[in-house]
Amino acid sequence: MRKVRVGLLGCGLVGTGVVEVLAETSERWAALGVEIALSRIAVRDLNRPRSPLVRREWLTANWREVSAAGDVDVVLEAMGGVEPAFEAVRTALAHGKTVITANKELLAAHGVALRAVARGHGAVLLNEATVLGGVPVIHLLDTYFKINRIRALRGIVNGTCNHVLTRMDETGCSLEEALSEAKAKGYAEPDPTYDLSGWDARAKLKILIEHTLGIAVPVDRIPCTGIAHVSPLDIAAVRALGGKLRLVAEARTAEGGALMAGVGPQVVFPGDPLYAVDGVDNALMVSAAALKRALGAAGFATAVYPLAVPAAGLPAVRSEPTRVSTM
Ligand code: NDP
Ligand code: HSE
Repeated sequence: MRKVRVGLLGCGLVGTGVVEVLAETSERWAALGVEIALSRIAVRDLNRPRSPLVRREWLTANWREVSAAGDVDVVLEAMGGVEPAFEAVRTALAHGKTVITANKELLAAHGVALRAVARGHGAVLLNEATVLGGVPVIHLLDTYFKINRIRALRGIVNGTCNHVLTRMDETGCSLEEALSEAKAKGYAEPDPTYDLSGWDARAKLKILIEHTLGIAVPVDRIPCTGIAHVSPLDIAAVRALGGKLRLVAEARTAEGGALMAGVGPQVVFPGDPLYAVDGVDNALMVSAAALKRALGAAGFATAVYPLAVPAAGLPAVRSEPTRVSTM
């Protein structure tokens, strides 16, 4: 049996979910010949009530006892925020550990620097959980899509905003009421301003731009408008036009290496694939030159897929944009 020794940074909504999933899936791991052994969890407050699955002896209030521990191979980061998450992840990578993070804000702020630390220490940084939750989009982008010359992406990447806009449309309720529901269902960030301001979607767009267009753009240079100001009257007006209001993130490259990117509310109409995306659902559309050719030519499509294997090792970011402008 191969033993993977795991440490967890943070045991809130996401971290507790990790503990539960590890407990639920232990038999399936064992059938694969793997034991996932969780033995250290860093939290802020040692006295906070926690799931019965979280053993008291695993807890520490000092993240270094996870990030720098000699008996931890894989560190899962679900603390949130930039500090001390940056220092905790950097330390784990500098110790050669594999780090898996769900922290969009951290990746958007310091992803390039952290990947450099990982490369320098033979460590691995994985961030599938940062965008589109349970849909393994980052893996697809890093493999199959990487050699497909991606030109543009457009999507709904924040479930809280989509839930709020959907519920305001369906029930005529206020933004505050719809947000209360989203918080109760566990969709929102610890500070939901991060969702409503569009910043969460912007951080995810920045991460997607790195994985698709290979461009490192400072997150605060991406134009961003949130939905905090949207009223039931706005929703009714959009409905009268036959559309739905959605918070859309999009990016594409233009001539000369310029990046067109932005996050903001858009009116989407039937026929737009995003029109069908309701509630907490997310969606991402990717336009790729080679993929379009692949759709029309089976031989080419078959040839592209094996190339995903060598493409997986290529660096995510190759350039900086000459200029960033709104879509
Ligand atoms: P929570 O606020 O629920 O949990 C944060 C956890 O981190 C808590 O256990 C907290 O400890 C711990 N923590 C915070 N600061 C420190 C510190 N300085 N030292 C040690 N532990 C610390 O956040 P979420 O679980 O909702 O989110 C975690 C991350 O996952 C965020 O980056 C978020 O953006 C991301 N994410 C969230 C999703 C969601 O649906 N909520 C989905 C996908 C990603 P204590 O318990 O003692 O307070
Ligand atoms: N608050 C985030 C959202 C959680 O609503 O999309 C998932 O990243």
